[in-house]
Amino acid sequence: MTPRHPLVVANWKMHKTPAEARAFVDELRRLWGTSRPACQAALAPPFPCIAAVVEAGMGLDLPVGGQDLYWEPEGAYTGEVSGPMLAASGCQFVIVGHSERRRGFGETDAIVNKKLRAALAAGLRPILCVGETGEQRDAGATEAVLDGQLQGSLADCSGQDVAHCVLAYEPVWAIGTGKTATPATAQAAHEFLRAQVHKMFGASVAAGLRLLYGGSINLENFGALIAQADIDGGLVGGASLDPKTFATLVAIADSSWGAMR
Ligand code: PGA
Repeated sequence: MTPRHPLVVANWKMHKTPAEARAFVDELRRLWGTSRPACQAALAPPFPCIAAVVEAGMGLDLPVGGQDLYWEPEGAYTGEVSGPMLAASGCQFVIVGHSERRRGFGETDAIVNKKLRAALAAGLRPILCVGETGEQRDAGATEAVLDGQLQGSLADCSGQDVAHCVLAYEPVWAIGTGKTATPATAQAAHEFLRAQVHKMFGASVAAGLRLLYGGSINLENFGALIAQADIDGGLVGGASLDPKTFATLVAIADSSWGAMR
């Protein structure tokens, strides 16, 4: 089987102004010099920074994405941003169902499903986030929670739709807490998710689907995580805000990709 192309995505959350975003991309360009990494790196800045990142990243092969979207293409929805708007602003992907949206803004699986299908309709690649809370893990409910989120978020999707998605396993207890899942714990969850996708959409969709780990990724833990068979990259929050650290994470993914081929 061809190994899946690793992907490292920066989720800046609510950080950086357009000027700071531009400085980040300029620094990344300088750090990469002529040896552009072999694996894929991507940035999800806040909405007001998208234009600056797209412009500063010209020619860098650095896909830009939104952190969220609304499911209607346009209308009287004060404060919301649609898939077609993101696409027209130069975005290629969008994060959907991040736990900070699910928990802080009441997003249910049904809402996440509407957003995911709206992203696909706009030609954007959805990065669908799933993950259990600490209480759910302690109660032995991890697999049931992940399965429920997967079924709900991917309702009414075809195999072709899912082949266009990226899935991110982000255990809620590991996000922004400094507590990372061990490589074995993360691998077990990824293996489970891939097996569920296999059951729902068949072997080739499951084998081709890129599955990212997210939750307190840093320079010390990322190498062991990305070396796991079912971990194809990372969705990085805090450690993605500094260009040197982000470039080093991408370099770590690159060497693991090199070792696989
Ligand atoms: P963190 O965030 O790396 O800061 O834990 C990851 C995420 O929420 O995507």
